[in-house]
Amino acid sequence: MAKKKTITAKKADKYELYQQAVQNPEFETQMVEKFYRRLRGTRPELLREDFSGTFIFSCEWVKRYSGYHALCVDLDPEPLEWGKKHNLSKLTADQQSRIEIRQQNVLEIKEPKVDIVTAFNFSYWIFMQRAEMLRYFKSVRQSLRPNGMFIMDSFGGAEAHSEQEEPRECEGFDYIWEHRKFYPLNSEMECRIHFSFKDGSVMRNAFRYYWRLWSPREIRELLEEAGFAQVEFYWEGTEEETGEGNGVFRRAIKGEAADCWIAYIVAAA
Ligand SMILES: C[S@@+](CC[C@H](N)C(=O)[O-])C[C@H]1O[C@@H](n2cnc3c(N)ncnc32)[C@H](O)[C@@H]1O
Repeated sequence: MAKKKTITAKKADKYELYQQAVQNPEFETQMVEKFYRRLRGTRPELLREDFSGTFIFSCEWVKRYSGYHALCVDLDPEPLEWGKKHNLSKLTADQQSRIEIRQQNVLEIKEPKVDIVTAFNFSYWIFMQRAEMLRYFKSVRQSLRPNGMFIMDSFGGAEAHSEQEEPRECEGFDYIWEHRKFYPLNSEMECRIHFSFKDGSVMRNAFRYYWRLWSPREIRELLEEAGFAQVEFYWEGTEEETGEGNGVFRRAIKGEAADCWIAYIVAAA
């Protein structure tokens, strides 16, 4: 019987580990489709994935339906190149022809007009100032077709305001999410991702983020100011036995005082 390869920090690929540990493109594309169908009653055509990184989400999106197209936008050429080599190359010629990749600042992209813009894994929290976030939301609003929709995620709860490391077991390695610093007076936070392996080796600081912890209410107010007609929150339910999130998101107005929560934000043009 072939021996399973052991991953070690030296041999591991940080983008591969990130995709395995953090992303769930099947689930996320399904959620996006549901949100659009719920509010618009039809299928979208063109989706823009902002802060796309290795654009695994868009690759899954074009696989879902032959009428789906995706535009992936990221500033950094490194994850984009990685995505071309490891994700795009696995698609059929037809699927590949429905993906466009742009190395660009999300603040600068205006065309083409799209049905959906997504900003996942809290990437839009790189904008620290209210005016900057408003500028981003306005530019997204202007990029949308009349029936367009902007979908983001957000997190919060008591734990989001603390400094801690949270390990989670994945297949062949542990994913460690660290809140290295949290500054209560300006809500800025420094987060890092580390990976540890069965042989005891550790890949520290594989990814670093400097974000502002925005509250959903601040985001709602900014989206409304940017001209979005309707803003909805979808709150994740809790698994009774484990107290962990159960992957079921329901529309909510107020939420609950959980130690750690995740929600989707859906803004309709
Ligand atoms: C947390 S990763 C997101 C990866 C992936 N989309 C996900 O959901 O996990 C954030 C990405 O945002 C990109 N980024 C940061 N600022 C940006 C900007 N102003 N315009 C475009 N991309 C940006 C970074 O290069 C990085 O690849």
